[in-house]
Amino acid sequence: MNAGILGVGKYLPEKVVTNFDLEKTVDTSDEWIRTRTGIEERRIADGSIDTSDMAYEAAVQALKDASVTAEEIDLILVATVTPDKAFPSVACIIQDRLGARNAAAMDISAACAGFTYGIVTASQFIKSGDYRHILVVGVEKLSKITDWNDRNTAVLFGDGAGAVMMGEVGEDKGILSFELGSDGSGGKHLEKATEFITMNGREVFKFAVRQMGESSLNVLKKAGLTKEDVNFLIPHQANIRIMEASRQRLELPVEKMSKVIHKYGNTSSASIPIALCEEVEAGKIKDGDLIILVGFGAGLTWGAAAIRWGK
Ligand code: ACO
Repeated sequence: MNAGILGVGKYLPEKVVTNFDLEKTVDTSDEWIRTRTGIEERRIADGSIDTSDMAYEAAVQALKDASVTAEEIDLILVATVTPDKAFPSVACIIQDRLGARNAAAMDISAACAGFTYGIVTASQFIKSGDYRHILVVGVEKLSKITDWNDRNTAVLFGDGAGAVMMGEVGEDKGILSFELGSDGSGGKHLEKATEFITMNGREVFKFAVRQMGESSLNVLKKAGLTKEDVNFLIPHQANIRIMEASRQRLELPVEKMSKVIHKYGNTSSASIPIALCEEVEAGKIKDGDLIILVGFGAGLTWGAAAIRWGK
């Protein structure tokens, strides 16, 4: 049995915070942020919108897009490092709101690689034949763990949610291969040990450039494919320079890499499903296309998947 994506959805909060807005509160400039990161603005959820609210909105869209009812969901996996509270999980909160009364539910903590961990986990249950429909959401309200006085991190992050409904797909479709990995020895470079995120940007940058390229090539090799077979790359949207390095490793033209970082900043586990949803909505990903999803994050963690698009 093959496991693939049946439908997509996303939610971005309305409030836009531009680089010029940040210039007024921290010692930074639009020029520095744009040239070093590719970010121009980000969305920030106001106090009344919590992580589960964004996850719910994205999930509703994914269900509709896949023509799957809430009662047909067997499992809900929510990748997040910014849950509403330690427990219950965001997955349980949206299980109730969706009315998914037949679904098991749990959150996954793998930071920005969380969504790739989620779809790979989901695919195992589907391939085994045990579950038919699994909702996977990547969602973050990073604004609540960002120190808005720290220019090293305040300029990078944004809030949002992306979701996919996964299920059985036809022959040669769906997840063809994957790679998941971790290196806890690098955990100190990116953590939330106190109230806020702290980061050694240069170390994370080096790790990300190396790992995103290698993982993308590894999943191609595992699927018996080559760079020439790739139609679209959806990298974690953390920094345009990291994304560009991955694109160049795959020797892809600019128009074959998804780029939403300028609008949304780094939304951690939400960034890949948001980008995927935007590309599908824009008609850039077509039936039969080979797409590579690749992410990295705190942990350190990483994950990649080669997917043949379509049902
Ligand atoms: N505005 C102006 N200057 C700044 C800013 C800012 N916002 N931030 C840092 N600087 C300064 C630094 O203080 C430094 O000054 P110095 O030379 O006087 O010491 C200078 O700019 C250069 O700093 P670098 O760290 O060398 O800048 P770099 O080019 O490496 O870019 C960045 C920094 C953007 C953070 C980059 O390292 C990066 O993107 N790293 C990866 C981050 C990432 O992807 N994190 C994932 C987190 S997601 C998660 O899991 C929650």
